[in-house]
Amino acid sequence: MTILDGKKVSNDIKNEIAVEVQKMKDNGEKVPHLAAVLVGDDGASLTYVGSKVRSCERVGFESSLIRMPHTTSEVELLKKIEQLNNDDAIDGFIIQLPLPPQIDTQKVLLAVDPSKDVDGFHPENFGKMALDMTTFIPATPFGILELLERYKVDTKGKHTVVIGRSHIVGRPMSILMSRRGWPGNSTVTLTHSNTKNITQITSQADIIISALGVPNFLKAEMVKDDVVIIDVGITRVPDESHPKGYVITGDVDFENVSKKASFITPVPGGVGPMTIAMLLKNTLLAREQRRS
Ligand code: GUN
Repeated sequence: MTILDGKKVSNDIKNEIAVEVQKMKDNGEKVPHLAAVLVGDDGASLTYVGSKVRSCERVGFESSLIRMPHTTSEVELLKKIEQLNNDDAIDGFIIQLPLPPQIDTQKVLLAVDPSKDVDGFHPENFGKMALDMTTFIPATPFGILELLERYKVDTKGKHTVVIGRSHIVGRPMSILMSRRGWPGNSTVTLTHSNTKNITQITSQADIIISALGVPNFLKAEMVKDDVVIIDVGITRVPDESHPKGYVITGDVDFENVSKKASFITPVPGGVGPMTIAMLLKNTLLAREQRRS
């Protein structure tokens, strides 16, 4: 059994990006600049955005954190997006999700200039991804592909079962794993909350990508020997014995499933760190595209 070490791989990727940034600096060129917009003060979102900004510093990017109150109106947020679209100093930006209920997320994502949409959430970029065109691939699915590639996991002709159909992870992942090329060329089943008899499906899977958000959902009895497990779950489960008062828990019963798996991602330290590394990669690509 091999652990897919997202912490290590994400560090490798950040080091590779830092080398590219240093080259830009040596050539007197502008370095990539990522902006993140956070509306409200949700604890988990604050943590994620904080990590994104710190990672920018680590690789030598410029970064801006734009905080707006939870009472922000849709019009105010759209105005901010318009400013960022028109700001030549900004190469890419993200709107941290989820947004407060008074704001229509679809409308907001449509307002982002696709050439600065380093999250890959704009319908134009999502469509390009589905059509195998060059574009920004959403960071979490992009990170999973990168992990599979760096550990040389064979995906061709394999049965990949994706659990969860979110726009951010499950849906794009199902498309990417079915694309031609590697990692890809899988036969994909996309399962979700209305799927009947999910054990019958997971027990036939060669590769399982779980992005459900239900702690310890996937048990050893639900998988076959030598399965490849990608656990995208990051639920905060209350735990008084922990200094933070919670533990980050994945969708997979790691202790028991890992005994049957050929490859498995840990939580934390698997997919999570990869997401940030690939956001940085997309921002580097955005800068390169704006330069040329
Ligand atoms: N919320 C949860 N994941 C993400 C992500 O990848 N990007 C943004 N912008 N918000 C998120």
